[in-house]
Amino acid sequence: MSGVPTRWQVRAQRPIAYDVIKTPGLFDPACDALLAHGRPQGRRFVVVDAEVARHHGAAIRAWFDARGVQARIQVVPGGEENKTIEVWQGLLRALDAFPIHRRDEPIIVIGGGVLTDVVAFVAASYRRGVPHLKVPTTLMGYVDAALGIKAGINFNAHKNRLGSFEPPLAVLLDPTLLATLPRRHLMNGVCEIIKLAIVRDRALFEALERDGAACVAARFQDVASEAILDAAIGGMLDELAPNLHEDELERKVDFGHTFSYGLEARHADRLLHGEAVLLDILVSCLIAERRGLLPAADAARIFALVQQLEIGLDCALLDAGLMWESLLDRTLHRDGLQRVPMPAGLGRCVFLNDITRAELDAALPALCARIQSSHEPALER
Ligand SMILES: NC(=O)c1ccc[n+]([C@@H]2O[C@H](COP(=O)([O-])OP(=O)(O)OC[C@H]3O[C@@H](n4cnc5c(N)ncnc54)[C@H](O)[C@@H]3O)[C@@H](O)[C@H]2O)c1
Repeated sequence: MSGVPTRWQVRAQRPIAYDVIKTPGLFDPACDALLAHGRPQGRRFVVVDAEVARHHGAAIRAWFDARGVQARIQVVPGGEENKTIEVWQGLLRALDAFPIHRRDEPIIVIGGGVLTDVVAFVAASYRRGVPHLKVPTTLMGYVDAALGIKAGINFNAHKNRLGSFEPPLAVLLDPTLLATLPRRHLMNGVCEIIKLAIVRDRALFEALERDGAACVAARFQDVASEAILDAAIGGMLDELAPNLHEDELERKVDFGHTFSYGLEARHADRLLHGEAVLLDILVSCLIAERRGLLPAADAARIFALVQQLEIGLDCALLDAGLMWESLLDRTLHRDGLQRVPMPAGLGRCVFLNDITRAELDAALPALCARIQSSHEPALER
Protein backbone atom coordinates (compact mmCIF):
# COMPACT_ATOMS: atom_id res chain seq x y z
CA MET A 1 0.00 0.00 0.00
CA SER A 2 1.55 3.30 -1.07
CA GLY A 3 -0.44 5.44 1.38
CA VAL A 4 -1.47 7.66 -1.53
CA PRO A 5 -5.26 8.03 -1.52
CA THR A 6 -6.78 6.36 -4.55
CA ARG A 7 -9.43 8.20 -6.49
CA TRP A 8 -11.19 7.52 -9.75
CA GLN A 9 -13.22 10.25 -11.35
CA VAL A 10 -16.18 9.67 -13.63
CA ARG A 11 -17.29 12.60 -15.76
CA ALA A 12 -19.69 12.30 -18.65
CA GLN A 13 -22.10 14.49 -20.52
CA ARG A 14 -25.06 13.46 -22.59
CA PRO A 15 -26.46 16.04 -24.97
CA ILE A 16 -30.21 16.44 -25.19
CA ALA A 17 -31.71 17.26 -28.57
CA TYR A 18 -35.25 16.79 -29.73
CA ASP A 19 -37.58 18.60 -32.08
CA VAL A 20 -41.04 19.92 -31.39
CA ILE A 21 -42.72 19.73 -34.77
CA LYS A 22 -46.08 21.06 -35.85
CA THR A 23 -47.67 18.39 -38.03
CA PRO A 24 -51.35 18.98 -38.73
CA GLY A 25 -53.12 15.83 -39.92
CA LEU A 26 -50.80 13.37 -38.19
CA PHE A 27 -53.08 10.43 -38.99
CA ASP A 28 -53.79 11.41 -42.59
CA PRO A 29 -52.82 8.56 -44.89
CA ALA A 30 -50.17 10.75 -46.56
CA CYS A 31 -48.39 11.81 -43.35
CA ASP A 32 -45.36 9.80 -42.25
CA ALA A 33 -44.16 11.94 -39.32
CA LEU A 34 -44.89 9.26 -36.71
CA LEU A 35 -42.43 6.88 -38.35
CA ALA A 36 -39.61 9.39 -38.82
CA HIS A 37 -37.96 7.86 -35.76
CA GLY A 38 -37.09 4.20 -35.43
CA ARG A 39 -37.47 1.22 -37.75
CA PRO A 40 -40.29 2.06 -40.18
CA GLN A 41 -41.55 -1.52 -40.46
CA GLY A 42 -41.01 -2.36 -36.81
CA ARG A 43 -43.32 -2.76 -33.85
CA ARG A 44 -44.79 0.07 -31.83
CA PHE A 45 -46.29 0.15 -28.35
CA VAL A 46 -48.83 2.95 -28.68
CA VAL A 47 -50.66 4.35 -25.65
CA VAL A 48 -53.80 6.28 -26.58
CA ASP A 49 -56.06 8.33 -24.28
CA ALA A 50 -59.55 6.78 -24.14
CA GLU A 51 -61.28 9.98 -25.31
CA VAL A 52 -58.83 10.31 -28.19
CA ALA A 53 -59.49 6.67 -29.07
CA ARG A 54 -63.23 7.42 -29.08
CA HIS A 55 -62.77 10.25 -31.57
CA HIS A 56 -59.78 9.07 -33.60
CA GLY A 57 -59.22 5.40 -32.72
CA ALA A 58 -60.25 4.06 -36.12
CA ALA A 59 -58.01 6.54 -37.98
CA ILE A 60 -55.05 5.71 -35.72
CA ARG A 61 -55.51 1.94 -36.21
CA ALA A 62 -55.93 2.35 -39.98
CA TRP A 63 -52.81 4.53 -40.14
CA PHE A 64 -50.56 1.88 -38.54
CA ASP A 65 -52.21 -0.96 -40.53
CA ALA A 66 -51.64 0.87 -43.81
CA ARG A 67 -47.92 1.07 -43.07
CA GLY A 68 -47.59 -2.56 -42.06
CA VAL A 69 -46.53 -1.61 -38.55
CA GLN A 70 -47.37 -4.13 -35.88
CA ALA A 71 -48.88 -1.75 -33.35
CA ARG A 72 -50.11 -2.70 -29.91
CA ILE A 73 -52.64 0.04 -29.19
CA GLN A 74 -53.19 0.37 -25.46
CA VAL A 75 -56.18 2.54 -24.60
CA VAL A 76 -55.94 4.20 -21.18
CA PRO A 77 -58.30 6.76 -19.62
CA GLY A 78 -56.91 10.23 -18.92
CA GLY A 79 -57.76 12.27 -15.85
CA GLU A 80 -55.66 13.00 -12.78
CA GLU A 81 -57.14 9.96 -10.99
CA ASN A 82 -55.24 7.78 -13.46
CA LYS A 83 -51.82 9.30 -12.86
CA THR A 84 -51.08 6.45 -10.49
CA ILE A 85 -48.53 3.81 -9.71
CA GLU A 86 -51.13 1.18 -10.75
CA VAL A 87 -51.61 2.66 -14.23
CA TRP A 88 -47.84 3.01 -14.61
CA GLN A 89 -47.34 -0.64 -13.56
CA GLY A 90 -50.16 -1.86 -15.79
CA LEU A 91 -48.51 -0.21 -18.78
CA LEU A 92 -45.14 -1.72 -17.88
CA ARG A 93 -46.75 -5.19 -17.75
CA ALA A 94 -48.47 -4.67 -21.11
CA LEU A 95 -45.19 -3.46 -22.58
CA ASP A 96 -43.34 -6.46 -21.23
CA ALA A 97 -45.87 -8.69 -22.98
CA PHE A 98 -45.24 -6.95 -26.31
CA PRO A 99 -41.48 -7.14 -26.85
CA ILE A 100 -39.96 -4.18 -28.64
CA HIS A 101 -36.39 -3.45 -29.66
CA ARG A 102 -34.62 -1.45 -27.01
CA ARG A 103 -33.51 1.37 -29.34
CA ASP A 104 -35.34 1.51 -32.66
CA GLU A 105 -38.98 0.85 -31.79
CA PRO A 106 -40.00 3.90 -29.76
CA ILE A 107 -43.04 3.93 -27.53
CA ILE A 108 -45.66 6.41 -28.78
CA VAL A 109 -48.02 8.25 -26.44
CA ILE A 110 -51.07 10.05 -27.82
CA GLY A 111 -52.94 11.85 -25.05
CA GLY A 112 -53.18 14.67 -22.56
CA GLY A 113 -50.72 15.77 -19.88
CA VAL A 114 -51.62 12.86 -17.63
CA LEU A 115 -50.75 10.21 -20.19
CA THR A 116 -47.67 11.94 -21.56
CA ASP A 117 -46.33 12.25 -17.99
CA VAL A 118 -47.12 8.61 -17.11
CA VAL A 119 -45.89 7.10 -20.36
CA ALA A 120 -42.70 9.15 -20.34
CA PHE A 121 -42.09 7.62 -16.89
CA VAL A 122 -42.80 4.16 -18.33
CA ALA A 123 -40.21 4.88 -21.01
CA ALA A 124 -37.76 6.13 -18.38
CA SER A 125 -38.10 3.05 -16.21
CA TYR A 126 -38.43 0.17 -18.70
CA ARG A 127 -35.00 -1.41 -19.25
CA ARG A 128 -33.58 1.74 -17.62
CA GLY A 129 -34.85 3.81 -20.51
CA VAL A 130 -36.33 3.24 -23.94
CA PRO A 131 -37.12 5.98 -26.46
CA HIS A 132 -40.52 7.60 -26.73
CA LEU A 133 -42.47 10.03 -28.91
CA LYS A 134 -45.14 12.36 -27.54
CA VAL A 135 -48.31 13.49 -29.30
CA PRO A 136 -50.22 15.89 -27.01
CA THR A 137 -53.97 15.96 -27.54
CA THR A 138 -55.06 18.52 -24.94
CA LEU A 139 -54.28 22.23 -24.94
CA MET A 140 -52.50 21.69 -21.59
CA GLY A 141 -50.24 19.15 -23.25
CA TYR A 142 -49.84 21.16 -26.45
CA VAL A 143 -48.54 24.34 -24.82
CA ASP A 144 -46.97 22.88 -21.71
CA ALA A 145 -46.97 19.31 -20.40
CA ALA A 146 -45.60 17.54 -23.48
CA LEU A 147 -42.95 20.11 -24.40
CA GLY A 148 -40.37 19.43 -21.69
CA ILE A 149 -38.68 16.36 -20.27
CA LYS A 150 -40.51 15.89 -16.97
CA ALA A 151 -42.09 12.48 -16.44
CA GLY A 152 -44.01 11.37 -13.41
CA ILE A 153 -46.90 9.98 -11.44
CA ASN A 154 -48.67 11.03 -8.27
CA PHE A 155 -47.69 9.17 -5.11
CA ASN A 156 -48.51 9.29 -1.40
CA ALA A 157 -51.14 12.00 -1.95
CA HIS A 158 -48.55 14.25 -3.62
CA LYS A 159 -48.53 15.34 -7.22
CA ASN A 160 -45.65 14.08 -9.34
CA ARG A 161 -43.84 12.73 -6.27
CA LEU A 162 -42.29 9.92 -8.35
CA GLY A 163 -40.74 10.74 -11.67
CA SER A 164 -37.69 11.51 -13.69
CA PHE A 165 -36.35 13.66 -16.47
CA GLU A 166 -36.77 11.78 -19.73
CA PRO A 167 -36.28 13.55 -23.07
CA PRO A 168 -38.50 12.38 -25.91
CA LEU A 169 -37.25 11.62 -29.42
CA ALA A 170 -39.66 14.28 -30.63
CA VAL A 171 -42.92 16.00 -29.80
CA LEU A 172 -45.43 16.02 -32.65
CA LEU A 173 -48.07 18.74 -32.47
CA ASP A 174 -51.30 18.26 -34.40
CA PRO A 175 -53.59 21.21 -33.60
CA THR A 176 -56.58 19.54 -35.27
CA LEU A 177 -56.68 17.06 -32.36
CA LEU A 178 -57.68 19.93 -30.05
CA ALA A 179 -61.00 20.38 -31.85
CA THR A 180 -62.73 17.65 -29.84
CA LEU A 181 -61.68 18.95 -26.41
CA PRO A 182 -64.54 19.92 -24.08
CA ARG A 183 -64.58 23.65 -23.27
CA ARG A 184 -63.50 23.12 -19.67
CA HIS A 185 -60.35 21.35 -20.84
CA LEU A 186 -59.63 24.05 -23.41
CA MET A 187 -59.82 26.65 -20.66
CA ASN A 188 -57.55 24.47 -18.53
CA GLY A 189 -54.83 24.96 -21.15
CA VAL A 190 -55.67 28.64 -21.58
CA CYS A 191 -54.79 29.12 -17.88
CA GLU A 192 -51.21 28.04 -18.62
CA ILE A 193 -51.04 30.43 -21.58
CA ILE A 194 -52.25 33.26 -19.32
CA LYS A 195 -49.53 32.30 -16.82
CA LEU A 196 -46.80 32.54 -19.41
CA ALA A 197 -48.15 35.80 -20.80
CA ILE A 198 -48.19 37.50 -17.39
CA VAL A 199 -44.63 36.64 -16.40
CA ARG A 200 -42.80 36.87 -19.71
CA ASP A 201 -44.79 38.05 -22.72
CA ARG A 202 -46.87 41.23 -22.67
CA ALA A 203 -47.64 40.90 -26.40
CA LEU A 204 -49.09 37.44 -25.79
CA PHE A 205 -51.23 38.89 -23.00
CA GLU A 206 -52.52 41.56 -25.39
CA ALA A 207 -53.23 38.88 -28.03
CA LEU A 208 -55.28 37.00 -25.43
CA GLU A 209 -57.20 40.18 -24.59
CA ARG A 210 -57.87 40.80 -28.28
CA ASP A 211 -58.43 37.29 -29.69
CA GLY A 212 -58.66 34.88 -26.75
CA ALA A 213 -62.45 34.60 -26.62
CA ALA A 214 -62.67 34.09 -30.40
CA CYS A 215 -59.93 31.42 -30.25
CA VAL A 216 -61.87 29.52 -27.61
CA ALA A 217 -65.03 29.80 -29.71
CA ALA A 218 -63.04 28.44 -32.69
CA ARG A 219 -61.64 25.64 -30.51
CA PHE A 220 -58.17 26.94 -31.39
CA GLN A 221 -58.56 26.02 -35.06
CA ASP A 222 -58.33 29.50 -36.67
CA VAL A 223 -55.43 31.73 -37.74
CA ALA A 224 -55.45 33.89 -34.59
CA SER A 225 -55.29 30.72 -32.53
CA GLU A 226 -52.24 29.53 -34.42
CA ALA A 227 -50.43 32.78 -33.59
CA ILE A 228 -51.30 32.49 -29.89
CA LEU A 229 -50.34 28.82 -29.73
CA ASP A 230 -47.04 29.41 -31.54
CA ALA A 231 -46.16 32.28 -29.19
CA ALA A 232 -47.02 30.18 -26.14
CA ILE A 233 -44.98 27.20 -27.34
CA GLY A 234 -42.00 29.36 -28.32
CA GLY A 235 -42.08 31.15 -24.97
CA MET A 236 -42.39 27.95 -23.01
CA LEU A 237 -39.49 26.34 -24.87
CA ASP A 238 -37.35 29.46 -24.36
CA GLU A 239 -37.89 29.04 -20.63
CA LEU A 240 -37.46 25.25 -20.52
CA ALA A 241 -34.58 24.59 -22.91
CA PRO A 242 -31.72 26.27 -20.98
CA ASN A 243 -32.87 24.67 -17.73
CA LEU A 244 -34.24 21.24 -18.66
CA HIS A 245 -33.07 19.57 -15.45
CA GLU A 246 -34.10 22.52 -13.27
CA ASP A 247 -30.57 23.22 -12.04
CA GLU A 248 -31.80 26.80 -11.74
CA LEU A 249 -34.66 26.65 -9.25
CA GLU A 250 -35.97 30.15 -9.95
CA ARG A 251 -38.27 29.32 -12.86
CA LYS A 252 -40.75 31.78 -14.34
CA VAL A 253 -42.88 28.84 -15.50
CA ASP A 254 -43.48 28.00 -11.82
CA PHE A 255 -45.71 31.08 -11.60
CA GLY A 256 -49.05 29.76 -10.34
CA HIS A 257 -47.46 26.51 -9.18
CA THR A 258 -46.81 27.30 -5.52
CA PHE A 259 -50.14 27.40 -3.68
CA SER A 260 -51.88 25.35 -6.37
CA TYR A 261 -50.12 22.07 -5.55
CA GLY A 262 -51.98 21.55 -2.30
CA LEU A 263 -55.30 22.68 -3.78
CA GLU A 264 -54.98 20.34 -6.72
CA ALA A 265 -53.96 17.35 -4.62
CA ARG A 266 -56.78 17.92 -2.09
CA HIS A 267 -59.50 18.70 -4.63
CA ALA A 268 -58.50 16.33 -7.42
CA ASP A 269 -62.18 15.63 -8.10
CA ARG A 270 -63.12 19.32 -8.45
CA LEU A 271 -60.09 21.18 -9.77
CA LEU A 272 -58.18 20.66 -12.99
CA HIS A 273 -54.48 21.49 -13.00
CA GLY A 274 -54.93 24.75 -14.91
CA GLU A 275 -57.87 25.80 -12.73
CA ALA A 276 -55.74 25.37 -9.60
CA VAL A 277 -52.92 27.27 -11.31
CA LEU A 278 -55.27 30.13 -12.14
CA LEU A 279 -56.42 30.46 -8.52
CA ASP A 280 -52.75 30.58 -7.50
CA ILE A 281 -52.03 33.18 -10.21
CA LEU A 282 -54.78 35.45 -8.94
CA VAL A 283 -53.77 35.10 -5.28
CA SER A 284 -50.19 35.85 -6.31
CA CYS A 285 -51.32 38.91 -8.29
CA LEU A 286 -53.08 40.28 -5.22
CA ILE A 287 -50.02 39.72 -3.05
CA ALA A 288 -47.86 41.39 -5.72
CA GLU A 289 -50.30 44.30 -6.02
CA ARG A 290 -50.35 44.84 -2.24
CA ARG A 291 -46.56 44.90 -2.22
CA GLY A 292 -46.52 47.52 -4.96
CA LEU A 293 -44.87 45.11 -7.42
CA LEU A 294 -47.80 44.81 -9.79
CA PRO A 295 -49.46 48.07 -10.82
CA ALA A 296 -53.17 48.13 -9.97
CA ALA A 297 -54.00 48.76 -13.63
CA ASP A 298 -52.18 45.58 -14.68
CA ALA A 299 -53.88 43.55 -11.97
CA ALA A 300 -57.24 44.89 -13.18
CA ARG A 301 -56.43 43.78 -16.74
CA ILE A 302 -55.59 40.28 -15.52
CA PHE A 303 -58.91 39.98 -13.68
CA ALA A 304 -60.74 41.46 -16.67
CA LEU A 305 -59.19 38.88 -19.01
CA VAL A 306 -60.27 36.01 -16.75
CA GLN A 307 -63.78 37.44 -16.68
CA GLN A 308 -63.86 38.04 -20.42
CA LEU A 309 -62.81 34.44 -21.09
CA GLU A 310 -65.51 33.22 -18.68
CA ILE A 311 -63.20 30.90 -16.79
CA GLY A 312 -65.11 29.43 -13.84
CA LEU A 313 -63.44 30.02 -10.47
CA ASP A 314 -64.60 28.45 -7.24
CA CYS A 315 -63.27 30.47 -4.33
CA ALA A 316 -64.91 28.06 -1.88
CA LEU A 317 -61.94 25.80 -2.59
CA LEU A 318 -59.44 28.36 -1.28
CA ASP A 319 -58.00 27.30 2.05
CA ALA A 320 -55.22 29.32 3.66
CA GLY A 321 -53.88 26.43 5.76
CA LEU A 322 -53.68 24.09 2.80
CA MET A 323 -52.11 26.73 0.57
CA TRP A 324 -49.54 27.65 3.21
CA GLU A 325 -48.61 23.95 3.58
CA SER A 326 -48.26 23.85 -0.16
CA LEU A 327 -45.84 26.80 -0.07
CA LEU A 328 -43.80 25.01 2.61
CA ASP A 329 -43.64 21.87 0.48
CA ARG A 330 -42.61 23.91 -2.57
CA THR A 331 -39.91 25.50 -0.44
CA LEU A 332 -38.46 22.02 0.16
CA HIS A 333 -38.81 21.29 -3.56
CA ARG A 334 -36.95 24.53 -4.28
CA ASP A 335 -34.14 23.57 -1.95
CA GLY A 336 -34.99 25.66 1.09
CA LEU A 337 -36.03 28.99 -0.40
CA GLN A 338 -39.55 29.98 -1.45
CA ARG A 339 -38.41 31.23 -4.88
CA VAL A 340 -42.00 32.21 -5.71
CA PRO A 341 -42.35 33.84 -9.14
CA MET A 342 -44.37 37.04 -8.89
CA PRO A 343 -45.55 39.40 -11.62
CA ALA A 344 -43.85 42.80 -11.59
CA GLY A 345 -45.94 44.40 -14.32
CA LEU A 346 -47.36 42.58 -17.34
CA GLY A 347 -44.58 40.52 -18.95
CA ARG A 348 -42.13 40.88 -16.05
CA CYS A 349 -41.30 38.60 -13.17
CA VAL A 350 -39.38 38.69 -9.88
CA PHE A 351 -38.83 35.98 -7.28
CA LEU A 352 -39.83 36.34 -3.63
CA ASN A 353 -38.45 34.45 -0.64
CA ASP A 354 -40.30 36.22 2.15
CA ILE A 355 -44.02 35.72 1.60
CA THR A 356 -45.73 35.57 4.99
CA ARG A 357 -48.74 33.65 6.17
CA ALA A 358 -50.40 36.99 7.00
CA GLU A 359 -50.07 38.10 3.37
CA LEU A 360 -51.72 34.90 2.18
CA ASP A 361 -54.46 35.20 4.82
CA ALA A 362 -55.22 38.73 3.66
CA ALA A 363 -55.14 37.88 -0.05
CA LEU A 364 -57.75 35.11 0.05
CA PRO A 365 -60.83 37.13 1.15
CA ALA A 366 -59.71 39.91 -1.17
CA LEU A 367 -59.65 37.41 -4.05
CA CYS A 368 -63.10 36.05 -3.21
CA ALA A 369 -64.50 39.58 -3.05
CA ARG A 370 -62.92 40.45 -6.39
CA ILE A 371 -64.17 37.29 -8.09
CA GLN A 372 -67.68 37.84 -6.77
CA SER A 373 -67.79 41.49 -7.79
CA SER A 374 -66.48 40.71 -11.27
CA HIS A 375 -69.24 38.10 -11.71
CA GLU A 376 -72.06 40.44 -10.72
CA PRO A 377 -73.92 42.16 -13.53
CA ALA A 378 -72.69 45.76 -13.91
CA LEU A 379 -76.02 47.32 -12.85
CA GLU A 380 -75.97 45.57 -9.49
CA ARG A 381 -72.51 46.85 -8.58
N1 LIG B 1 -44.62 17.36 -17.43
C1 LIG B 1 -44.87 18.64 -17.30
O1 LIG B 1 -43.99 19.49 -17.42
C2 LIG B 1 -46.28 19.10 -17.03
C3 LIG B 1 -46.63 20.45 -17.21
C4 LIG B 1 -47.95 20.84 -17.01
C5 LIG B 1 -48.89 19.90 -16.62
N2 LIG B 1 -48.51 18.60 -16.42
C6 LIG B 1 -49.49 17.60 -16.00
O2 LIG B 1 -50.53 17.50 -16.96
C7 LIG B 1 -51.66 16.92 -16.33
C8 LIG B 1 -52.91 17.59 -16.85
O3 LIG B 1 -52.97 17.39 -18.24
P1 LIG B 1 -54.35 17.50 -19.04
O4 LIG B 1 -55.07 18.69 -18.59
O5 LIG B 1 -54.04 17.33 -20.46
O6 LIG B 1 -55.18 16.26 -18.45
P2 LIG B 1 -55.62 14.84 -19.05
O7 LIG B 1 -54.48 14.20 -19.71
O8 LIG B 1 -56.29 14.14 -17.94
O9 LIG B 1 -56.67 15.23 -20.19
C9 LIG B 1 -57.85 15.90 -19.82
C10 LIG B 1 -59.11 15.21 -20.34
O10 LIG B 1 -59.19 15.39 -21.76
C11 LIG B 1 -59.43 14.12 -22.39
N3 LIG B 1 -58.85 14.27 -23.73
C12 LIG B 1 -57.56 14.21 -24.08
N4 LIG B 1 -57.40 14.52 -25.37
C13 LIG B 1 -58.63 14.77 -25.86
C14 LIG B 1 -59.12 15.17 -27.13
N5 LIG B 1 -58.29 15.45 -28.15
N6 LIG B 1 -60.46 15.32 -27.29
C15 LIG B 1 -61.30 15.11 -26.24
N7 LIG B 1 -60.90 14.77 -25.01
C16 LIG B 1 -59.57 14.61 -24.82
C17 LIG B 1 -58.82 13.12 -21.48
O11 LIG B 1 -59.39 11.84 -21.63
C18 LIG B 1 -59.14 13.71 -20.11
O12 LIG B 1 -60.43 13.35 -19.73
C19 LIG B 1 -51.46 17.10 -14.83
O13 LIG B 1 -51.23 15.85 -14.23
C20 LIG B 1 -50.21 17.97 -14.74
O14 LIG B 1 -49.45 17.68 -13.59
C21 LIG B 1 -47.24 18.19 -16.64
